[in-house]
Amino acid sequence: MSAEPINLDSWRDLPAAQQPDWPDRSALESVVAELHGLPPLVFAGECDELKDRLAAVARGEAFVLQGGDCAETFAGATADNVRNKLKTLLQMAIVLTYAGRVPVVKIGRLAGQFAKPRSKPTETRGGVELPAYRGDMVNGFDFTPESRTPDPVRLLRAYHSSAVTLNLARAFTKGGYADLRQVHAWNQDFVAESPAGRRYEQLAREIDQALAFMHACRADPEEFHTVEFYSSHEALILDYDRALTRVDSRTGLPYDVSAHMVWIGERTRQLDGAHVEFFSRIRNPIGVKLGPTTSPEEALALIDKLNPANEAGRLTFIARMGASKVRDALPPLVEKIRASGAQIAWICDPMHGNTFEAPSGHKTRRLDDVLDEVAGFFEVHRALGTHPGGIHIEFTGDDVTECVGGGHPIVEEDLALRYETACDPRLNRGQSLDLAFRVAELYRLS
Ligand code: PEP
Ligand code: CO
Repeated sequence: MSAEPINLDSWRDLPAAQQPDWPDRSALESVVAELHGLPPLVFAGECDELKDRLAAVARGEAFVLQGGDCAETFAGATADNVRNKLKTLLQMAIVLTYAGRVPVVKIGRLAGQFAKPRSKPTETRGGVELPAYRGDMVNGFDFTPESRTPDPVRLLRAYHSSAVTLNLARAFTKGGYADLRQVHAWNQDFVAESPAGRRYEQLAREIDQALAFMHACRADPEEFHTVEFYSSHEALILDYDRALTRVDSRTGLPYDVSAHMVWIGERTRQLDGAHVEFFSRIRNPIGVKLGPTTSPEEALALIDKLNPANEAGRLTFIARMGASKVRDALPPLVEKIRASGAQIAWICDPMHGNTFEAPSGHKTRRLDDVLDEVAGFFEVHRALGTHPGGIHIEFTGDDVTECVGGGHPIVEEDLALRYETACDPRLNRGQSLDLAFRVAELYRLS
């Protein structure tokens, strides 16, 4: 191919929001040089495969389930932790597949979700002001000057932690653990054992019958035993994602090989900013978060810049409006974009517009608000004849107490019991399954 090489550093001249204030630039440069030489975590061909799957979502033929921690931590990269998250995600996916009668594209906020945008650059406790925690990729969670000082060696740790996590994820999803009948058996346990689950006996029974029918027909496709699973994160720290961008030998095109999909957050999607510029150069499937103040003109300008060839699957909009705003803020965007003919996959993040502070000071979310935003998202798309293409959630496979509500109802007074998140509150295992069954009901009603 004789095309001009693509300039992957054009973003460096533009304002980059939310970057750490590294105290030692030469230490950063030596880490970045080391990252440049490390092997890819994913292959460009896998990114293309995910783009194909997302193209089906844009056409209304598939549904996305994207989720994981708000902020992964290095300490959290254990076998139990990763397995519990995957197990929960797969349990949710089977319910959604049955209800929607379409393939569910499974994408983790996993193996790279180590950097966080913050609303304030510093945090003050008891009169002491220190840099805010920006994710394990940047600094430590402990409130001490040593821990909160950005340390570029953490970029390397993020890479290695991502590699370990992705290796486990590949083993769990390809090595027989994710067998469909097994995943269904876990859902049957959830239905039998929890008050939340019992509401869903009927749906679980139908899935059971469908599986029994397939078994009787001796249908035993490969898809019953292994799962296609993709990684994603917010590509916030541009030095990291740039250093992991490689030119694909097959096509001569650049891919950010730190994850299959990367997204731009609500705070870094400025049209003339560094993140949008960097993303315009890489060939991965990409996402952009859209909050309630997004104008249709802004969304269309993002499309022009990020998907000028209008390729289906290239660009996913992740709407995070808030339950009280989604029914007003989303329709003008969806309508104008549909009218423009742009190929977009729409997914709903019902978490980030619904965060509030409990009297105890914990950041939390109500499961009912999360469900209401998803319901609003479905209503808007059904009314406009467009496809509600998926959900993007923050969850964990453990029994934490970070969000309120659910079948084993967690109330605000319970939040301190197991509040373990390094950033935003996550749905626990039961709340996540509850959500999946409720979204399945929405699917069937619509
Ligand atoms: C997030 O996904 O954790 C996040 C910070 O979201 P947003 O950019 O939508 O605020
Ligand atoms: Co978050």
